[in-house]
Amino acid sequence: MRQFLAANDIENGAVLGIYGAGGFAREVMPILARRFKDTGHALKLVFIETEPKASQVNGYPVVSEEAFFALDASKRYFNIAIADSKARETIAERCISRGAAPLSLASHSADFLDANTIGEGALFCANTVVTSNARIGRFFHANIYSYVAHDCVIGDFVTFAPRVSCNGNVHIEDHAYIGTGAVLKQGSLERPLRIGKGAIVGMGAVVTKDVPAGAVVVGNPARPLERKG
Ligand SMILES: CC(C)(COP(=O)(O)OP(=O)(O)OC[C@H]1O[C@@H](n2cnc3c(N)ncnc32)[C@H](O)[C@@H]1OP(=O)(O)O)[C@@H](O)C(=O)NCCC(=O)NCCS
Repeated sequence: MRQFLAANDIENGAVLGIYGAGGFAREVMPILARRFKDTGHALKLVFIETEPKASQVNGYPVVSEEAFFALDASKRYFNIAIADSKARETIAERCISRGAAPLSLASHSADFLDANTIGEGALFCANTVVTSNARIGRFFHANIYSYVAHDCVIGDFVTFAPRVSCNGNVHIEDHAYIGTGAVLKQGSLERPLRIGKGAIVGMGAVVTKDVPAGAVVVGNPARPLERKG
């Protein structure tokens, strides 16, 4: 299957769900709508929430997961607009096991250059760029203005907040979270810069050295976050 489905690839009568109905989900729904709403096919676009708090958000129905799977549909697609990577993983595996297909989404202003591989369920917001020869795992989030440069290797369920600068030859392990405006120094093919599993890079950090798994780093140059008390 191609990385990103075009409007014509989606079956008539399909339902397309964005899991979440919070701020980020409201930013993602327009990406979905612009790609798929006016195909001439009868497609239904919905927000999915574990416990819907409203029946509609921005003109789109909000349905429970049960209701999503009960809808009369030729096929069910989903993406997950939830930054919490563990929640994203749980929801992803459950929806896939129930027969829904992950739908990777990219804004029209997202750009992808050469020879990249991108896992299922990815989300690329406006003005994101993946340059060349990057390998990205499943259910990646690239929020607005983030980039992934050449030869980066990114694991599963990794999250980039807005304007993350991920320079060449950076390796990021599963479930890492990179905060707004963080800058990750380039590594080399022989010695990539590594961000360990589940690590958190704070907003505005300038990362010049490897970050161990599970660490929280902030500042310029990035250092482990020291908590008082
Ligand atoms: C690093 C981070 C994860 C820490 O969160 P937290 O554990 O809740 O930390 P707190 O807010 O309790 O702050 C603890 C201390 O670190 C400082 N701090 C927090 N984030 C910081 C950052 N990014 N850079 C420098 N210092 C930071 C706080 O000022 C506070 O300092 P103090 O103890 O002197 O008062 C968080 O602040 C962060 O940067 N998250 C990313 C936010 C983001 O990009 N959101 C995007 C939404 S789309």
